[in-house]
Formats: sequence, C-alpha cells, structure tokens
Amino acid sequence: MSGRFIAFEGGEGAGKSTQIARLAEALRARGEEVVVTREPGGTPGAEEIRALFVTGETGRWTVETDVLLVTAARADHVARLIRPALEAGKTVLCDRFIHSTLAYQGCGKGVSIGLLKRLHSFATGDLWPDLVLWLDVPVELGLSRSTKRAAAQDESLPQEQRFEALGLAYHEKVRRGFAAFAADDPRVVRIDAAQPLDAVTAAIAAAAL
Ligand code: TMP
Repeated sequence: MSGRFIAFEGGEGAGKSTQIARLAEALRARGEEVVVTREPGGTPGAEEIRALFVTGETGRWTVETDVLLVTAARADHVARLIRPALEAGKTVLCDRFIHSTLAYQGCGKGVSIGLLKRLHSFATGDLWPDLVLWLDVPVELGLSRSTKRAAAQDESLPQEQRFEALGLAYHEKVRRGFAAFAADDPRVVRIDAAQPLDAVTAAIAAAAL
C-alpha cells in the first residue's frame, strides 16, 4: 500500500475537525491527494451504524455491543474507503480510529486491550495508522467545549452526546489511556491542543509534514 494513513485522536472537544481541515489543505498544497473521513462512519453503511452508536441514552447499549458496533462500522469503512484510497496512493486523514476504541472501550470501560486488538485485526485485515496525532486537552476544558457546541447545534439534528454524559472520571481514564499509548508507541504523538489554534496547527505540521 503506497498512501499514508494518519489518524487524529483525542477526548471530547479537542478541536480535531479544525485541525484536520488545516492539515488537509497543507498536504493538498504540496500536491498530495487527500481523503478526509471519520469514525464511526465514513461510508453510507458505517454512518448508519454511527447513528446507533453516538445518539440516545448512554446506557442504550452494553459495552460489548458498543465494541461490536464500532468494529463493524470500521470493517466497512476500511474495506470500502480507506484501503482503496491507500492503494491508490492517497493520503487518508481519519477523525478517530482504533485508538478511540482502545481508549474509550478499553481503558474507559475495562474491555481487554488484547481482545480489542484481535478484533481490529480481524475486522480490518490488520490495518494500523502510520501516524496517530493525539490532540490532548484537559478533560474539563474539552467537555465544556463539547457541551457548548451541542447547545449551539441546530435542534433538528440528532445530539451525539452518548459518551460526553459518562462524566469526568470516565474521561480522565480515556485521557490516561491515550497518554499510555503515546508513551509506548512512537507512532502515537501527543499534540498540546490547549494552545492557541495556530500553535496547534504548527505542532501538527511538524509531526506530519
Ligand atoms: P466524535 O465526537 O469525535 O465524532 O466521536 C464520537 C464519539 O464516539 C466520541 O464520544 C467517542 C466515541 N467513540 C468510542 O467510544 N469508540 C470508538 O471506537 C470511536 C471511533 C468513537
């Protein structure tokens, strides 16, 4: 596979969307063909699964069902969009990927990391990102940004707040999970996303360009 696969990760309200758009623009300016996508979602089928996964009550699904839903969505997304794009030599920027499952369902909810990795390998033909940019913000700051965004959102759109409602202690575990991945794996790079936007963009450019 010749393209490059970059995942953006982080807790709630880390500012991933803005930074993904900026990196996409910088890569296109260098002449790269860039595909921007997200998880859960990215293909019509995976977007249908997303609607089940991120809306409704927090306790709507058990964690086992959550793992299987997000992994099923990822299998479709990789087979139909990410792998073909990489094979065509494109750069893929994905808003969340396997490290969200490892952090939210693994570190946050106690599902075995080994099991999550085996499921991932089965679902995706063992596709891992070349680079993971972990946009790190303190949990309280991220949750307050995300709650403000939800309040400002058009009321006709469904609220995607299932995981926000799990509270501070849960999101602290998720953050510690990302920190542990960054400490263990040089492909996972921590970006201080509490800095002003342009400084975050510069840090991402230094890691990815
Ligand atoms: P988003 O708000 O970044 O679009 O992500 C949707 C929510 O889904 C977010 O609260 C994190 C959660 N999530 C998981 O719990 N596990 C996963 O594997 C993924 C991809 C997302």
